[in-house]
Amino acid sequence: MRLLIMGRPGAGKGTQAANIKEYYGIPHISTGDMFRAAIKEGTELGKLADSYMKQGALVPDEVTIGIVKERLLKEDCKKGFLLDGFPRTVLQAEALDNFMKEQGIALDAVLDVNVDQAILIRRIVGRRICKTCGATYHIEFNKPKVDGICDNCGSPLTQRPDDTIETAGSRLDVYDKQTAPLLAYYKQQNLLKSVNGDQPLDKVFDDIKEVLSK
Ligand code: AP5
Ligand code: MG
Ligand code: ZN
Repeated sequence: MRLLIMGRPGAGKGTQAANIKEYYGIPHISTGDMFRAAIKEGTELGKLADSYMKQGALVPDEVTIGIVKERLLKEDCKKGFLLDGFPRTVLQAEALDNFMKEQGIALDAVLDVNVDQAILIRRIVGRRICKTCGATYHIEFNKPKVDGICDNCGSPLTQRPDDTIETAGSRLDVYDKQTAPLLAYYKQQNLLKSVNGDQPLDKVFDDIKEVLSK
C-alpha cells in the first residue's frame, strides 16, 4: 500500500502513522523526522533544515524533494510506504507524481486527518517526544505511564524546539497557505479520504482502517 497522511501541524499524523506502520507493515517516512535526525547528527542538511524549522517555515522544495526520492528508492519501500508531512507544496506533489510515474507506481490513498485549528495549539504545546525511539506523548491527552519518561525505552521525554506558541502559529499559517491547496489536488485525483482527527486516538485509527478498506 502506498499512502500519504496529511493534516495540520498537531493533527495527529505522526501518532496515527505509527499505528499504520505496525498494522499494514509499511515504512513510515516523515520528512520532519528525517530533518530532526539530520539536525541531531549535525550534518549540512541538518544545519540548513534547522534554520527554516525554527522559524516554522518550510525547508526549500529542491532539498526536500531530493531526500524523499532517495528514501523511496530504498529496498523497504518496494512493499509500499506511508509518507507523513510530504508533499507540503504543489511543487512537491507534482515532483512526487512524476517520480512515481517514472517508477511505474501510484498512490492508493491520501489520508487527511482533519482537526479544527482551535485545539491544535494545545496539542502542539503539550506534546512530548522521545528522542531515542521517536515515540510521541501529550501531557494531557496521551500521557506516559511515568511523568517525563518514555514507556517504550525509558529515556527522558523532551519538547520539540518548534513547539512554542509563536512557532506553532507560523506553522499553522504556512499550512493554510502552502499545503491546504493539496487537498483539492488529491480530491481531483479521487484519492482523498478524510477522517475526523478530533476524537480519541483509537477511534481515529478505527476510522482510518475503515476508509482504507473501501
Ligand atoms: P513535521 O515534523 O512534519 O511537523 P508538522 O507538520 O508541524 O506536524 P507535527 O509533527 O507537529 O504534528 P502531527 O500531525 O505529526 O501530530 P502528532 O501525531 O505529533 O514538520 C516540522 C517542520 O519540518 C516543518 O515546519 C518544516 O519546517 C519542516 N518540513 C517537514 N516536512 C517538510 C516538507 N515536506 N517540506 C518542507 N519543509 C518540511 O500529535 C500532536 C500531539 O497531539 C501529540 O502530543 C499527540 O500525543 C497528541 N494527539 C495526537 N492525536 C490525538 C488525539 N486524537 N487526541 C488528543 N491528542 C492527540
Ligand atoms: Mg509529526
Ligand atoms: Zn523512547
